[in-house]
Amino acid sequence: MIAIGSDHGGYTLKQEIIKYFKENNIEYKDVGCNSEESCDYAQFGKAVAKLVIDGECEKGIVICGTGIGISIAANKIKGIRAALCHDCFSAQATREHNDANILALGARVVGPGLAIKIVETFLGTEFSNDERHVRRISQIEE
Ligand code: RB5
Repeated sequence: MIAIGSDHGGYTLKQEIIKYFKENNIEYKDVGCNSEESCDYAQFGKAVAKLVIDGECEKGIVICGTGIGISIAANKIKGIRAALCHDCFSAQATREHNDANILALGARVVGPGLAIKIVETFLGTEFSNDERHVRRISQIEE
């Protein structure tokens, strides 16, 4: 199960990603927002983060205009490693090296085609489990 949330700036891209989830039988939980009406990103970043930390969802996706505000908000929740990625290399590396549990996207930065590729890469890449990466992540948690 993948948690997904956005503010108004990310709403249209969120709907594109949900369409991709439906086409690919990927289960998801949409925490909102529900329109392009102006709203505040922190609550949606936090809602996605909570679903991941509570174990209800294995990973999360958060979207705002830049991806920055909502990723900062999600990263305030202990145990969350939200990675803002606008290319596939970063999406793969952050899964392999950082075991990122939330992907952040900026809908005003990338188009839907690239965004879907980044989502595919993020969700399809496992953590390496290399000792050095496990050590570095535990240092973040400390
Ligand atoms: C909303 O206008 C915009 O500030 C927001 O979507 C996001 O980019 C903030 O980081």
